Amino acid sequence: MKILILGSGGREHTFAWKIAKSPLCKSLFVAPGNSGTHTIAHNIDVKVTDFEAIKNVVITHAIDMVIVGPEDPLVQGIHDFFLSDADLVNVIVIGPQKAAAELEGSKEFAKEFMYRHNIPTAAYKSFDVSNIEEGYKFLETLKPPYVLKADGLAAGKGVLILKDLNEAKTELKHMLLEAKFGKASTKVVVEEFLDGIELSCFVLTDGKHYKILPTAKDYKRIGEGDTGLNTGGMGAVSPVPFATEDFLNKIETQIVKPTILGLQKDNLPYKGFVFIGLIKVGDDPKVIEYNVRMGDPETEVVLPRLKTDLVEIFKAISEERLDKINIEIDERAATTVMLVSGGYPGTYEKGKEITGLVNVKDSIVFHAGAIQKEGKTITSGGRVMAVTSYGKTYKEAIKKSYQNIAHLHFDKMYYRKDIGFDL
Ligand code: AMP
Ligand code: GLY
Repeated sequence: MKILILGSGGREHTFAWKIAKSPLCKSLFVAPGNSGTHTIAHNIDVKVTDFEAIKNVVITHAIDMVIVGPEDPLVQGIHDFFLSDADLVNVIVIGPQKAAAELEGSKEFAKEFMYRHNIPTAAYKSFDVSNIEEGYKFLETLKPPYVLKADGLAAGKGVLILKDLNEAKTELKHMLLEAKFGKASTKVVVEEFLDGIELSCFVLTDGKHYKILPTAKDYKRIGEGDTGLNTGGMGAVSPVPFATEDFLNKIETQIVKPTILGLQKDNLPYKGFVFIGLIKVGDDPKVIEYNVRMGDPETEVVLPRLKTDLVEIFKAISEERLDKINIEIDERAATTVMLVSGGYPGTYEKGKEITGLVNVKDSIVFHAGAIQKEGKTITSGGRVMAVTSYGKTYKEAIKKSYQNIAHLHFDKMYYRKDIGFDL
């Protein structure tokens, strides 16, 4: 098969790394890709939301399968675009159709879905300019801290957690009346704060059947001890040690099953990954959010633990026979540590040369914000590379990642030295 991956992060390098091993993969393209995918696939300089340009690539290279990495093209309807075009209709697309991608595209849509299908989540109400006064009143009925969420996609920045009631009211006003997050905050979901520890559950579905992949925990804050600003993710661990068999069973019966059944009942066409952001409150899982793609950097620990051929799995998804596939998981733990540009998630410099990659032993370096230029690997983004290792335990794995990071260098490189500290 000829396969195209859309995206340019560590997640997409990991997909490419895994797919390149498949005997079913004849040639592999990544658009736009990065310095990591450059070494194992053909990078094509096309934007993930430029559907006409993607169509061109698919036709020129006779692509059989497209794997969509990030959420934007899914929420904008790339799968529907393929289905409605006679030249593309037979190409396999991994990722939900637009109607189902609303699970990530609209927080209100996701909350209504959870309520309709009795999936445990925080109590909420949503507001727009027409009922902002009710929003203030609803906030008064809640206990602090207050959780405000821009309804639409806001590049991971649309959630505010505030300790003070007046501050929460002011922020609600900023979001609704002053478009704090642009169009994304035309509507705001106000919800109950859930106190607990977070983890992520990844599910593959063909729309009818599902398979649960290993759990992972990511570290979102920039600072050690989970302090400072939110980032795309600074590291991850899989499996999650506190996710016992009993707890995993609860996730499956209370959340995964009703989610997949709910997709069917609501006629939401879904062939792809469901990423369920969970929080463990007491002994019970509750859903914080759905994403309609894999997580980054969670992919960098989940896919390395998957032994089964991923292309085989994707083919089964397209043919709605996922129930016939046996998913094999590596018993070992995997961890990843993200190296980022100094200043991230605020402003940072790009174009710094990355050295020491040849000295890495026994870890896998997944490139993210890095490109190949004039024979050098240089930084091109905030999150630059993820250093993944295996171990009998996550502690052993994390030690290996840190040992190898010592070989790597670029100007103003920063990383968290405490990934896994809370486990
Ligand atoms: P989201 O973009 O929905 O993943 O929210 C970003 C982060 O905000 C989550 O990863 C949680 O850490 C936090 N968060 C969101 N909703 C809640 C909630 N209801 N209670 C506590 N924390 C939350
Ligand atoms: N690491 C969180 C995400 O991919 O959304």
